[in-house]
Amino acid sequence: MHTIIKDLNWRYATKKFDPLKKISPADFDTIKESLRLVPSSYGLQPLKFIIVTSTGLREKLHSSAYNQSQIVDASHLIIICSYRNINDTHVDEYIANVGATRNITPDTTKGYADFMKRTVNEMGEDQKLQWNKNQAYIALGQLMQTCATLKIDATPMEGFNTEAYDTLLDLHNQNLTASLVVPMGYRHIEDQTQHQKKVRKPLDDLFTTL
Ligand SMILES: Cc1cc2nc3c(=O)[nH]c(=O)nc-3n(C[C@H](O)[C@H](O)[C@H](O)COP(=O)(O)O)c2cc1C
Repeated sequence: MHTIIKDLNWRYATKKFDPLKKISPADFDTIKESLRLVPSSYGLQPLKFIIVTSTGLREKLHSSAYNQSQIVDASHLIIICSYRNINDTHVDEYIANVGATRNITPDTTKGYADFMKRTVNEMGEDQKLQWNKNQAYIALGQLMQTCATLKIDATPMEGFNTEAYDTLLDLHNQNLTASLVVPMGYRHIEDQTQHQKKVRKPLDDLFTTL
């Protein structure tokens, strides 16, 4: 069996973390770099990853997430935030980054920049928010895979009060909203979920060949 599949069978949505086991700085750097490399629509990366280290803040976030213990017990906690809005400025910043990274002049990319701006500006506010939230789920998938490869446990979570999180993290003022919460660390020996068999549809239900 390929190691990718072994890793994906090893991982599970951890319910109880061991609060004494911590992710090494080197592994956490790998996680951050993986998130930096996440693909996004047009490459705009309308995301911000908030690493919450404050114990007091994690207690408050715990209360606003149905008291799920992972929020306080996991070694590390990342909130994947999406931009609420996106506009010409974000496209200009991206184009400037393309220019600096690839050493090309703005006239080379003007056509593409104008195209992106038209697309972005044609969207309504709700559509933009949804688009940016979709990007968070791409990051989540990559994060899950990266953690599994590193043999780090992680729980994808959307069971939290978005309004409360946006307030606690002061996200409104930063054009952000909390999309997903991901506690990461090491499973507790007492977490019974680790012994449960994976429940997945059979291949025939999921794939159709035309
Ligand atoms: C977007 C998303 C949100 C989730 N939210 C929560 C959550 O708030 N709390 C939790 O314990 N598990 C949460 N889960 C975990 C799922 O229940 C779990 O991934 C699913 O049952 C499959 O089990 P497995 O990941 O252990 O293979 C979430 C999963 C996803 C993908």
